Amino acid sequence: MKPVKIGILGLGTVGCGTINVLARNGQEIARRAGREIKIVQASARDLKKKRPCPTEGIRLVADPFEIVRNAEVEVVVELIGGYDPARSLVLEAIANGKHVITANKALIAVHGNEIFAAAQKRGVMVAFEAAVAGGIPIIKTMREGLTGNRIEWLAGIINGTSNFILTEMRDRGRDFAAVLAEAQRLGYAEADPAFDVDGIDAAHKLTILAAIAFGIPLQFKQAYIEGISRITRADVQYAEELGYRIKQLAIARRTDGGVELRVHPTLIPQRRIVANVDGVMNAVLVKGDAVGPVLLYGAGAGAEPTASAVVADLVDVVRTLTVDPTNRVPHLAFQPDALSDLPILPMERVETSYYLRLHALDRPGVLADITRILGDLGISIEAILQKEPAEGENVVPIIILTHRVVERNMNEAISRIEQLASIKGSVARIRLEHLNRDWK
Ligand code: NDP
Ligand code: HSE
Repeated sequence: MKPVKIGILGLGTVGCGTINVLARNGQEIARRAGREIKIVQASARDLKKKRPCPTEGIRLVADPFEIVRNAEVEVVVELIGGYDPARSLVLEAIANGKHVITANKALIAVHGNEIFAAAQKRGVMVAFEAAVAGGIPIIKTMREGLTGNRIEWLAGIINGTSNFILTEMRDRGRDFAAVLAEAQRLGYAEADPAFDVDGIDAAHKLTILAAIAFGIPLQFKQAYIEGISRITRADVQYAEELGYRIKQLAIARRTDGGVELRVHPTLIPQRRIVANVDGVMNAVLVKGDAVGPVLLYGAGAGAEPTASAVVADLVDVVRTLTVDPTNRVPHLAFQPDALSDLPILPMERVETSYYLRLHALDRPGVLADITRILGDLGISIEAILQKEPAEGENVVPIIILTHRVVERNMNEAISRIEQLASIKGSVARIRLEHLNRDWK
């Protein structure tokens, strides 16, 4: 059979990783796909740059639009990243009848509804396994392996860079900026690393997972997003003393009022497997009503782990090239005309437990004032830790863990506590989840 001809847009970390994996495992991959996969064209901005992958036999071009307009190319692999020109390239490839594979979560989370509608109309596939959790086959697992379940919630560490930073801060006491620079050098970080540390990248991925889990449209703008830059080494240490780890968690949960869609640093009990997912590794815990909790773990970023997911999509596309489009697995797991309009809950209505860190004057009655405010708002305390004041200071750090309470009440409590004359500075708040089966 004739080889399937593909064009790759972008020869960076993932583009080159994909070429290397296809070069090394080409024969094995062809045996699986049923046809050889041949890269005929690839693009990069700087054609003079030396690439860590073999490009002999591939026509290199500076203009990626040449590839999406090349009649010879059947499958376009978009590995440029960002919103534009990626969106225009993908839409033009679809309009030209080409199947598309992308690792671009920003593109899918923000423009996915438009892209999938265009692909549906044109009868082509858009595959995006590499867009979420790097090499972990989470999209395929949720879209195909768990179709018998009503998904209740999912929680994941889905940004390798921020997990790498938090791990290095905890284990080696390293400085935030130095670890971020290393993540950039290793090719883990986004072109704009603020996407990683501010939680935007994780929210892009969560948006995709939530759509697949609950059969809702992609709604990135509704996600609550908080990054890791306000986490201090002291918070990491206090959390450890109380038996918890701080992880940047992405959570989607179905509740009676709607769907929770949130990304924020979270205390997790140390005994949970997810609390022990370190470095650039990712993990996604999905709770289905029939199967119970399922945990997937693996490399969340990096050239070849991500290429592993890109190539899996390529094989899927090649295998289904001749399948009637109406019989293919729907892009977002549910048939496009069967999506639900479940609302996304505003953060004020989300219920979680909390870790609070505050600094109080070391004098009698302070704790009583704080606990009164919490009690008045129906917030019950799970643990309190009062630390020694630093040398020569009379301000003591107080750490409080609370039971579950709706965020609106916690906002009010924090505002009242900050108004106490005995409290210095603002109250630091980190949400806490036990991640037990029934989300209690
Ligand atoms: P890189 O920055 O390493 O590579 C991007 C490539 O696209 C480069 O070859 C670059 O050319 C080219 N490019 C950049 N901007 C333009 C533009 N405006 N027009 C044309 N070409 C352009 O990115 P990655 O390989 O790291 O990421 C690619 C995609 O994969 C992104 O969507 C990213 O989010 C996603 N991803 C990345 C992972 C990772 O671990 N790196 C993991 C999972 C997903 P040149 O080389 O000449 O500069
Ligand atoms: N910047 C992303 C991360 C790449 O660190 O997880 C993988 O999507």
